Parts: sequence; structure tokens; C-alpha cells
Amino acid sequence: MADYIKLFEPGKIGNKTLKNRIIMSPMQTFSYDSDGTPNQKTIDYFVARARGGVGLIICPGAKPTAESRVPGTPSFYDDRFIPHFRKLADAVHEAGSLVAQQINHTGKALTYTPGKLQEEKVLEAIGPSPLRYVKTGALLREATKEDIERLVEQISEAARRVRDSGFDMVEFHAAHGYLLATFLSPFTNRRTDDYGGTPENRARFLCEIIRRTRQKVGEGFPIIIRISGSEFLPGGTVIEDVLIQAPLLIHAGATALHISAGAHENTEVQFLSYLWPDAYISHLASAVKGVVDVPVITVGKLGNPDVAERVLEERRADFIALGRSLLADPEWVNKVREGRISELRRCICCNNCWDRIFTKSREQGRLFCTVNPSLHREKTFGIKVALVKKRVLVVGGGLSGMEAARVAAMRGHSVTLYESKDTLGGQWRLASSQPGKEIYNDVLKHLEKGLYDAGVSVRLNTNVTTPLISQLAPDVVILAMGAAPHTPVIPGINGSNVVQAVDVIQGKVSVGERVVVIGGRLIGMETALFLSEQGKHVSIVTANKLGENGKKLEENIYRTLRDRLIAKGVQIFPNCPVL
Ligand SMILES: Cc1cc2nc3c(=O)[nH]c(=O)nc-3n(C[C@H](O)[C@H](O)[C@H](O)COP(=O)(O)O)c2cc1C
Ligand code: SF4
Repeated sequence: MADYIKLFEPGKIGNKTLKNRIIMSPMQTFSYDSDGTPNQKTIDYFVARARGGVGLIICPGAKPTAESRVPGTPSFYDDRFIPHFRKLADAVHEAGSLVAQQINHTGKALTYTPGKLQEEKVLEAIGPSPLRYVKTGALLREATKEDIERLVEQISEAARRVRDSGFDMVEFHAAHGYLLATFLSPFTNRRTDDYGGTPENRARFLCEIIRRTRQKVGEGFPIIIRISGSEFLPGGTVIEDVLIQAPLLIHAGATALHISAGAHENTEVQFLSYLWPDAYISHLASAVKGVVDVPVITVGKLGNPDVAERVLEERRADFIALGRSLLADPEWVNKVREGRISELRRCICCNNCWDRIFTKSREQGRLFCTVNPSLHREKTFGIKVALVKKRVLVVGGGLSGMEAARVAAMRGHSVTLYESKDTLGGQWRLASSQPGKEIYNDVLKHLEKGLYDAGVSVRLNTNVTTPLISQLAPDVVILAMGAAPHTPVIPGINGSNVVQAVDVIQGKVSVGERVVVIGGRLIGMETALFLSEQGKHVSIVTANKLGENGKKLEENIYRTLRDRLIAKGVQIFPNCPVL
């Protein structure tokens, strides 16, 4: 068993001691009440992560002004919210963790808040300069000096309310292209007054907010600033800017820095998918550590505990923040501390949680996770013992068959699972064999262990036939036999030079040097990349736009694949049905 000594060393942020070096990164949930107060479902969600052992929870971006409020997200623009948030802070403390509240004026992002708030929001959808926001095409209003002074006061008042609600710290969100970040970045800040131009001038607005907040909250209350160490965007913030700006933020009164990456135009480095290496942006925190003497937090694909430990060991940061890993498994910290690594339910970096945040999460008031169905149903989602025990036969040992069998067995049924192949996992095992998706294997390992722990009896290499079912005479048969790849009906489809993508990925067939991939959604794009990386001349022909086939591919995975395909010279023919 590996020792995770660094991860479990206590550490200080200002005068607060965290019991370990693991922080829950702020993640918007859309689970708050429509006016922005936390409800019981939201409190339960944070309590589950606090019980899971995390040292500090940073709650997601709260709105500092009434005009910037977004239904389902926290609000701190009025003193009337204080008693509601006190309940949340008290509950998290009782569950054993410190708790901070992030404040985020989302600036230009307000232009995609739907509904009747829209008109009001356009007034508040301001930026440092009157530029068009690429995602909505909306022209932003240039912040006047009066706006700046008003926001310094409103944002620092929101921070004062955070302290008065019993939180241990406040974090200002100045990363990812929201309002404060747009001032820091030369990509969005084209001002010629004291708030634009040099890196120092671009940091002025944020420094004024920190100074005013410090006056209001006193010396002892920690202020964390979250910034993008680089926007990875031509013309955007680069680490050299940040190395000038970071000491100014500390001089203004900040207690710690939380180094993320990216902007609205480039979220791939914020939500690092399975296509990116672990700890991909931790070098940015490491660089910032060289110019400040306060705690520095790093974030971004640190869900492998060995990687997280190494980041601390190599002094790339003082603390690590975990986002999606704690959506996938609220017990991540306890399991790692107790050496229960095989029990970890690892985040597979598929970004489904983010993909649904603008649609299903807003409609249903909660986040969704591919590997954790109990997310936001922490108290209500339990496996209940069945009153009547049955003999259950599950046909198919793919992901859904395994999960159905596990849950049925945990409910007390006598379960046998039949799989025609010699291994469990079905299509998921195929997905795991793709380069970059090795992390998918962890889900299989987790499910397989759960299956055997629950007492399911597994029969491999066995086809289920009618006589077998008659012989076994189960009370219930669950069919989980997966899906077959779609084969379009077109001339020549049965030729010897036509193969299925799944066989290419598994190495069962070889293709020549010039390849046409039909279909341009996930499997088509991944297969084209796989082949182009082997030096083949590849084209994609797709009936729709690239990355779309009914449903759009998750935006970060889409952009990463698209850019890599282009870099590899893959020819793309969108809107071209093959006849
Ligand atoms: C659903 C979701 C919502 C997020 N909301 C916020 C937010 O409100 N404020 C913020 O600073 N970052 C937000 N993030 C970014 C995370 O804090 C974190 O930086 C990112 O997920 C990378 O960390 P990870 O690889 O550990 O997930 C969000 C991420 C996700 C997945
Ligand atoms: S939906 Fe995917 S990326 Fe999001 S937390 Fe779950 S496994 Fe991770």
C-alpha cells in the first residue's frame, strides 16, 4: 500500500488549519432554490463530501448583485441570505470539514441566462471593454468608473456576508473568463485608462476588491483568489502576466492563490477530459509558488492519488483541489487515507456533468455523473432490501448487466450473471482499450469488485439459450445484451475493404494507408485520430456537422478532438451523406 504522507499532512491557509491538503473545488450545482438559498438537498450534498474526509469545501460561485443572480445558484447580495447559509456552514463544520464560499460575478456569461431575467441581465452583462461575447454574440457594455466603484463595494459586501454566515474563508473567482478574469486578461481588456494596458493596471480592479474586503472582514479572515495561470488562448493571459499580478494580489491582502487555467473561449484546459494528461496545469501553480510566499492551490485532473501525492511531494503546490473526483466519489479522501484504493470510484473525465449543466441540471436542479447515480440524492438514494427474495438471471456482462446484477444481489436476491465472452465489461472494455481511455478500466475494476463482494455468481463463456433458461427456471430474467454497431445500407458496404471501427480499435483488422471514416461523432473522430497518429492518410465523411449526430458531442471533448484531427491533417467532409 502506497503511503500518502503529503496528502494527509495538516496545512494552514491564513489562521485556519486544514486537517489535510485536499480541497473540494467549487462546482456549480444548480441545486439551490431559485432565489439562491441553499436547500436541504444542497446541504446533504456538501455534508456527504465533508464526511468523506475533505479538508476544505469551496462552495460554488455566488452572485454578489441582484442583477447578476442566476436561478439555482447561490446568492449573497443581501443580508437576508445570511441565516440560510449559516445552516450550510454549520452542517459542513459538524461533518468535519472547513468551508469557504466562492463569489463570482459572471459578467458576459449572464447573456446566456434564459428566461425573463434576460433583459435585466443584459444591463449587468458588462466587461472591461465593449466586445462581443463569442458564445452568445452579445455586445457587452463597457464598465464605467461608477460601475467599477459600485462593484468593488457590492463584491466586498458579499464577502462580508460570507464571513457573517459562519464560513471559514471566501474565494473570489477571477479565473475562467468571468467578470474579474476579463479585467485581468489582455484578450478581453482593451481599456486605455488605469484599469487596462499593463498587467498591473489589469489587476487594479481585483486589487481594489481585495483591499475593500480586507477592510470589511478584518485581518484574520482568509481571502483566496482563483485565477487562470494561463488562458491558453492567443492574445490571452499568459503565465508571465500572472507572475506580475500574483504578488500584487497578495500585497492587496489576499491569503492564498488557487491556480486554474482557461477562459470561456477555451474551457478544454479547465475541464481536462480523458484526452489530456493528469495534472496537466500543475506547472502553473508551481511557477506562481516561485513569486509568492502564501499557500498555492493547484487543480485539474488530480483524481489519481499517486499523481496528487507526487504534485505535493515535488512542491508544485501546497494544496490540491479536486472537482469531478468528488462528484464521482464523495468518499475519495477517506478511501485514500485508509488505503482502500481498489474501492475508489474514479471520475473518468467524460465531462457529462458539465455537458448537462446548461440543460438537464438546470431543469432538474442537480448535477449528473456517469459513474455516480446517487449524486445529489445522497440521503434518498439507498439500496433497500427486497421483501420477497427472487432468483434473478442476468444475461450480458457489460456495464449495465454488471450493475443490475450487483444491485439485485445487494437487495438480497440470488443472482447469476451469464456472459458469452471470456471477460466481463462488454463494450466498455472496448472503450477502455482506446488510447487515452485507460481510466475507463477503473470503472470496470470497481464494478467487478462490487459484483463479487455482493455475492453474484458469474458464468463466463456461456450463451444463454431457451433450454438453459427453462432448466434454471429463474423468477426474473434481465436482458442486458448491449448494442451492435450500426451498418449503413450503401453500395459496396460488404466489400473486403470495409471494416467496423470497433474492430480497428481492438486491432482485430488492419487497414491500408488511405482510410475513409464514415461518421463524424465520437467513435468516428476517435478512430480517425487513432489512425492518423499511425501516419495514415485519413478522411472523415459525415452526414452532419462534425461532432453532431442528433446530439452534439460534449464541447470540450469535441474541440480537443477537432483540433487534433486538424493538426494531423485529417480531411473533414461535413454534411456529406454517403449514398
Ligand atoms: C459541473 C461543474 C461546475 C463547475 N463550477 C465552477 C464554479 O462555480 N466555479 C469555479 O471556479 N469552477 C467551477 N468548475 C471548475 C472546477 O472547480 C475545477 O476547476 C474543474 O472541474 C477541474 O478540476 P477537476 O479536474 O478536479 O474536476 C466547475 C466544474 C464542473 C465540472
Ligand atoms: S460525469 Fe464524468 S467527468 Fe463528470 S464527475 Fe462523473 S465521471 Fe467525472
